[in-house]
Amino acid sequence: MSDHILRVEGLKTVFKTFSGDINAVDDVAFSLARNETLGIVGESGCGKSVTARSIMKLVEFENGRIDAGSVEYMPTPDELIDLTALDHKSAEIRAIRGGQISMIFQEPMASFNPVFPIGKQMAEVLVHHLGLSKLEARDRAIEMLNRVKIPNAAQRFDEYPHEFSGGMRQRAMIAMAISCNPKLLIADEPTTALDVTVEAQILELLNELEAEHSMTTIMITHDMAVIAEMTDNVMVMYAGRIAEYSSASALFANPLHPYTQALLKSIPRIGSKEELYSIEGSVPSLLDLPKGCYFAPRCPFAMEHCHTQAPPTFEPEPGHRVRCWLYGEPGDEVRAAPLTASEEVAGT
Ligand SMILES: Nc1ncnc2c1ncn2[C@@H]1O[C@H](COP(=O)(O)OP(=O)(O)O)[C@@H](O)[C@H]1O
Ligand SMILES: [Mg+2]
Repeated sequence: MSDHILRVEGLKTVFKTFSGDINAVDDVAFSLARNETLGIVGESGCGKSVTARSIMKLVEFENGRIDAGSVEYMPTPDELIDLTALDHKSAEIRAIRGGQISMIFQEPMASFNPVFPIGKQMAEVLVHHLGLSKLEARDRAIEMLNRVKIPNAAQRFDEYPHEFSGGMRQRAMIAMAISCNPKLLIADEPTTALDVTVEAQILELLNELEAEHSMTTIMITHDMAVIAEMTDNVMVMYAGRIAEYSSASALFANPLHPYTQALLKSIPRIGSKEELYSIEGSVPSLLDLPKGCYFAPRCPFAMEHCHTQAPPTFEPEPGHRVRCWLYGEPGDEVRAAPLTASEEVAGT
């Protein structure tokens, strides 16, 4: 039997806007084995953060709703909680969110309230989720601030978010997100705002924590170099859909989707004088999506039917899935429930 912590099927997240409903996430399916690190990669606006916020039941706080699909969370092999069925304000989800499933947000100001000291906010999370006393929570929060290399953590504990530099706020948020030893950590571009030295330290810290606490991680990034360094499996998203899914090694050895191939060409090489390759064109507006494959207008290999028929998902090699007409014909598509690439490789 395989041991999964998360299983997402047919997830569709819709936002109501003045110009109409948009499908920010459409037909997303994947499962996550315990201790796995899954990377989600794609250009800005492809639905990476919305996928994360849907799992955490946060889109309902905005103008969003989960329109179809399910997100099943298995805290232990014998427990299953359908997160989509929970009310976004329920006690059940509040007991999970920020504790067992924790998120590092792209924008650190989003998770700190400007009117309370950073340490107090960290301690509150620990009191709520771990039932620590105020004193214990203070000690643990200071320990966590030390771990993310905030200097003078004990003094910094009483400072307000605006007194921290951007990089320090980001590290403090990481400290808060990991302070309850989450079973599942969703890191949404955790290092995008940081300089390369701090980025390297934070990625190393996340690697250490994964090993120490057997933590499962979803690492969201637009940086293929971070994917290469950190992840076991990768999901490439484009315009709200999964373009490609496979193990990280298979993705780098044999990228199938023309979009993935283009993303890989855009990795900057250290010391290289070559100009950074960027993909021509831009991600389509979700209010005005092309009729066939969403990538067709930018795709160097697009065939006539790519512009009229949306491709299904094919699996040209075991565990390696791609939504592209180059890899199959109608009838060849995969219908089975999503598996993780590691699971298929292991043959379970
Ligand atoms: N509250 C919202 N209302 C309307 N559109 C939204 C909302 N949140 C996100 N979106 C849209 O959903 C799409 C996916 O966004 P997002 O998941 O943040 O992209 P990214 O891959 O950069 O993380 C974008 O087009 C974004 O503008
Ligand atoms: Mg994002």
